[in-house]
Amino acid sequence: MSASVITVETQEDLSHKLIIQQTSVGLSLKGSIRVPGDKSISHRALMLGALAQGETEIAGLLLGEDPRSTASCFQALGAEISELNTELVRVKGIGLGNLLEPVDVLNAGNSGTTLRLMLGLLASHPGRFFTVTGDGSLRSRPMSRVVKPLQQMGAQIWGRQNNSLAPLAITGQALKPTHYHSPIASAQVKSCILLAGLLTEGKTTVTEPALSRDHSERMLRAFGADLTTDPETNSVTIIGPAQLYGQKVVVPGDISSAAFWLVAGAIVPGSNLLIENVGVNPSRTGILEALSLMGADVELENQREVAGEPVADLRVRHSRLKSCTIAGDIIPRLIDEIPILAVAAVFAEGTTVIRDAEELRVKESDRIAVMAQQLNKMGAKVTELPDGMEITGGTPLVGTDVDSHTDHRIAMSLAIAALVASGITSIHRAEAAAISYPNFTATLQQVCQF
Ligand code: S3P
Repeated sequence: MSASVITVETQEDLSHKLIIQQTSVGLSLKGSIRVPGDKSISHRALMLGALAQGETEIAGLLLGEDPRSTASCFQALGAEISELNTELVRVKGIGLGNLLEPVDVLNAGNSGTTLRLMLGLLASHPGRFFTVTGDGSLRSRPMSRVVKPLQQMGAQIWGRQNNSLAPLAITGQALKPTHYHSPIASAQVKSCILLAGLLTEGKTTVTEPALSRDHSERMLRAFGADLTTDPETNSVTIIGPAQLYGQKVVVPGDISSAAFWLVAGAIVPGSNLLIENVGVNPSRTGILEALSLMGADVELENQREVAGEPVADLRVRHSRLKSCTIAGDIIPRLIDEIPILAVAAVFAEGTTVIRDAEELRVKESDRIAVMAQQLNKMGAKVTELPDGMEITGGTPLVGTDVDSHTDHRIAMSLAIAALVASGITSIHRAEAAAISYPNFTATLQQVCQF
């Protein structure tokens, strides 16, 4: 017996409709679960493994669509990567500076991290010509944020709309070092420039307005790069040319995926859920701080360090939530969790205000517009702001037809909202979840059993 009936229907166009139907039995989420490997760390492990001398062994790799895009691009660039059918993946690197010129276009699929980080590497490989593209969503996302600093280093990159949109063409060059003051706190921008700095002789520095996730810094150091950070100014310097050596990487569970269960456990009455083995790198834990501000009952158990990244088990129990304001420097530390935080805010007393999050408009979808539209369809009170949302909690949600707009985090956020909506919610294009969370529906079914 289950408190919600969860089914998936494949549509004529092969998209999936996820249908969540309430039954009369009260739902509570219990048990312990694991979330898939961290997406950001998975991309970086594949890339650095491909660039290193010798073999890299990656345990816990995310087998989602986005890391598969990274793996196929770096295979085309010459790395040997074992099949992505188990979470233990081996990469035989080709050594820094040795990327091959692929005979075809490199396709980053839906993945901004793949495309932006790879651009730094391609632009700094002299004498080779590369073309890169992505799916419809990625081809509409801004690339000038990485193209401009790379051009400042001497890169030659061409693309639509003044070199700002993929497809892009790149002629690799020996680049000159720079000190780039990024106007946005973006780990993709920071990492792109640091990767370009690997082959560039001298000091390449990036300063950002607030700290963004620092997985690149940690992993570059572990692979042998000469890298220093200045936390006072949010600056990172890499000295090139570097040499990287194959490593054993252990990828922790993705806190961005755990966030769906944290909010589910917080809003579904009677819940007590343990999410094991979650990465709690301080540059990613804004979600824990925001939930604590909202009065959620989340405990960190068994805190430890695994392969240079902090890890913990997270226990969440249902509690009454209250509104809060989320703005400023915390935003880059929870940027991917804002769609699911918006769902939490629908169940909080008072009006939650999210500001300084205009970056959400250029993610896999315009996450401000899409979350506001879809939650309002279900009866929530969400007002769009240019850089965020205002969400007044306390109105009951009613099941209806909603759409992911092919954005993985929107699909999963709406599924969690549906657990607490009356009637039937149908989430169209729910297959998008596989970008970062291939077993999402199976875990949803598991936690809804009792
Ligand atoms: C990521 C950085 C963030 C994040 C994305 C993954 C990364 O993007 O939203 O999902 O792995 O570097 P920005 O750098 O654009 O903020």
